[in-house]
This record gives sequence, C-alpha cells and structure tokens, in this order.
Amino acid sequence: MSFFGVRSDTLGKLILVPAASTTDFRSVLEKGNILFFPDGGFSLPPAVLPALMGATQDARSIHKNIAYKPNVDRVSGLIDKSESETVRAGMREYSRSALEFLSRILPEYSRGWKVDYASFRSIEERGRDLPLTKRNDLLHVDAFPTRPVFGDMILRCFTNVNPEQPREWMTSDPFPQLAEREADHAGLDRYAALSGSGLHNLRRSASRALRGLGLPLVDRSPYDAFMLHLHDWMKANEAYQRDCPKYRFDLPPGSTWLVFTDVVPHAVLGGRLALEQTVIVSRKSLANPSLAPASILEKRAGRTLTV
Ligand code: SIN
Ligand code: FE
Repeated sequence: MSFFGVRSDTLGKLILVPAASTTDFRSVLEKGNILFFPDGGFSLPPAVLPALMGATQDARSIHKNIAYKPNVDRVSGLIDKSESETVRAGMREYSRSALEFLSRILPEYSRGWKVDYASFRSIEERGRDLPLTKRNDLLHVDAFPTRPVFGDMILRCFTNVNPEQPREWMTSDPFPQLAEREADHAGLDRYAALSGSGLHNLRRSASRALRGLGLPLVDRSPYDAFMLHLHDWMKANEAYQRDCPKYRFDLPPGSTWLVFTDVVPHAVLGGRLALEQTVIVSRKSLANPSLAPASILEKRAGRTLTV
C-alpha cells in the first residue's frame, strides 16, 4: 500500500509527499491536506462495481447522489426501486471495506468517530444542472443540514471508480486562512450572538420537544448554523469564487483520497463514477484540536459555539 499526502500549494499540479516523510496521517489531514492513494489504498470487493454500474440515478431529484446509510442498511436516490436490493448489497460491501481501511490507517480517529453515510456519484459533474446551493462546481466547505456535528469534523474517503476518466477537483486555502479572510464578512458575529441567547435556548428546547412528538426539527449548535450558512454564502459569493487562490487536481482512475471537507474548500469540475464514505471525527481525537474549524471560530468569536 502506498500513502501520499497531496500538498495543495501549486496550481494545476499534484505534489506527492511519500508517507515515509510523515508519521501521523492525522496531522496531514488536519492541516488541510488531501491524503492521496494512487493505487486505491484498499481493494474493492469484486461484487461492488457490477452491483452499482447499472443503477439509475435521477439527475435532478432532491437526492444529489445515491446514498447508503450503514447504520440502518438503507439506500436512497434511485429512480427504479427494483434495483434497491442489488445496489444496497454493493454499497454495504463498499462501506464495510472503506471503513475497515479508514480504521486501519487512522486508528485514533476510529475509536471515537460516528459512521455517517456512503454515496455513489454516478452522474457526470461537468455541466450538471443543479440549484446554486447544491452545485458541486462552486468552492465550499461541507455542512450537513440534517446531521449537526457540534464541533466534530467531516472526514470523507473518495474513490474514483471510473476506469478512464479522472475526477477533476479544485480546492482553495484551508479553514484557518478561510476564517481569517471571510468569517467576519460571512457574519460570524450574528451566529456567535446566538450562543447562550434566549432565542437559541428556546429553539433547542422546541426542537427536542417536537422530536419527542416525531416531528423532525434539527437541534443544532451556533457552530452548525454558521457552517450551514457559510456553505451557501461561499457558493453565492462571486468575489470569493473569483479571487480566492485555486489549486487543481486530477484524481486518476482507481485512486482514493481522504480529506476533511469542512476544513478544505473544494469543488468538483468534472468526472463521473465515484464512491465515498463519510465519518464524523470527534474533535477530541484530533492530533491538534486547535485546528478544528469550531476551535478556530470559537477563538475568533471569544466564546463557545458548540453547545
Ligand atoms: C463535494 O463534496 O462537494 C463533491 C465532491 C465529489 O463528488 O467529488
Ligand atoms: Fe462538498
């Protein structure tokens, strides 16, 4: 198995840093690098691709991808429901092998992470017709509307399973620089003011009560609210999209890459057929918890944002 950290500091070029030059992959990731495995890092079970390749995905549905929830063993995002069983079996196998790989190379994270969804990205990204806040070709950091993280972090493992085409990514400078440059313009103060406020406490009590009655109102922290806002704000901000530093990567067929997608602004410009598994990494298990976006924003705001 070969490991490489991709240093995101040159335009249009992959710079490969051999694993021997580093001992702790946590630090590589937390600093906003992409950890890159040209040979895929792990073997996909042979049944996975045949099970997925015929899957029909609705390009304009509310589901951006075919998603698999490992905790309940369910798939969503298919047009033809008769495919569910086959696709579910393929995704289950993929998810299991990706999680096994991640726990092997990042054991400290695996002890405290929450397993999130896996996805199959079958649609060509170039020219994809999606509403602005759902567009994948605009730089953004990730935040999940339905799954608040309370300061923990979004680690994603992607594999390009397209036998011919690279997956074309663009990234920008990671969260410390992003926050320095844009957090105030994006309105961090307004979200920091929520922390401990009557309104925030009221919303949280209401969401708990409504959930008890089976009505899903998401119980999120001021940090989660800000990150959701930042995701949309970045996509809508023409000046940021135009002027920020940009780094281009072509991720070749068969390769795997790991990245904290809430630390690294990213966009996908082209490519189809990728698999992805997400885990939510506990802030406590980071090699350097002060690099968590929540820690950076809390320091900036001078108060806790994650309760
Ligand atoms: C994203 O997370 O914004 C999309 C990345 C990808 O599908 O390659
Ligand atoms: Fe994203």
